[in-house]
Amino acid sequence: MGEETGNSIILSDQIYCMDCMELVSQMPDRYVSMILTDPPYGISYQNNFTNSRHQVLDGDEGIDYELFAHESYRILKDNAHAYFFTRFDCYPYHYECLRQAGFAIKNCMVIEKGTVGGIGDLKGSYANNAEWIIFCQKGRRIFNHTTLLQNRKKAGNRFHAGRELSKKYKTRFNACWFGTEYPKATYNSVWQKQNGIYHPTIKNVVFLSWLIQISSQPGELIFDGFMGTGSTALAAIETDRRYLGAEINREYYETAVRRIAKMQ
Ligand SMILES: C[S@@+](CC[C@H](N)C(=O)[O-])C[C@H]1O[C@@H](n2cnc3c(N)ncnc32)[C@H](O)[C@@H]1O
Repeated sequence: MGEETGNSIILSDQIYCMDCMELVSQMPDRYVSMILTDPPYGISYQNNFTNSRHQVLDGDEGIDYELFAHESYRILKDNAHAYFFTRFDCYPYHYECLRQAGFAIKNCMVIEKGTVGGIGDLKGSYANNAEWIIFCQKGRRIFNHTTLLQNRKKAGNRFHAGRELSKKYKTRFNACWFGTEYPKATYNSVWQKQNGIYHPTIKNVVFLSWLIQISSQPGELIFDGFMGTGSTALAAIETDRRYLGAEINREYYETAVRRIAKMQ
């Protein structure tokens, strides 16, 4: 773990308690193999599912997204994948910044949440039950073959005359992950209470580990500039990848350090 880099040598398997933009400014070009990141959206976020309200997230007055998109493109290796969490009302701006930075934008993924959000106009808007992710490529990289999801048809069945035999495991995933076969994007409030880990936008480690397995190889370096409670780092460790990132809030940074130590 690191407090501050202090020089331009960036190691891996580190979370720095610092501003992400300072960290990336010290990173060499094409340094990381995959970006999986969950930035603040530039709004004051309050979650109403418990009586104890979360503090407003650091950075929620907004980050310089244009610069962040540009730096993300620069530090990513060629022929690599990047995932940026977003939200419907920020999507047009985030999309445009990422496109202008040079990314090829391939999908907007929509992933079911583990709990339905209790913010906004409770009587005049639909409940937000999904996370949105902009999936990008720098250059071109094909998805890994994984054993995450089985095809429903039995392996070896011919499902169409003249077509090749169906494989046991899915090689093409949907952009929308809903239903019991997929992990949820977030935990529910019961999980947070049971684990004593509170963060208004914490993500499910299993779900993150699926994206990592689809888009990177063991040993590769996964970057998340907004680590929160360290979920991306845990997912990287679980899948034998390396991790690197920042978290500006000391309390969340310490939670991340604790979670990593417990896992190791
Ligand atoms: C959407 S949350 C990420 C939550 C994380 N995915 C998890 O599962 O815990 C964004 C995080 O970015 C942090 N943050 C905001 N501005 C930052 C900055 N400039 N540099 C580093 N971290 C920042 C916030 O404190 C917050 O914890």
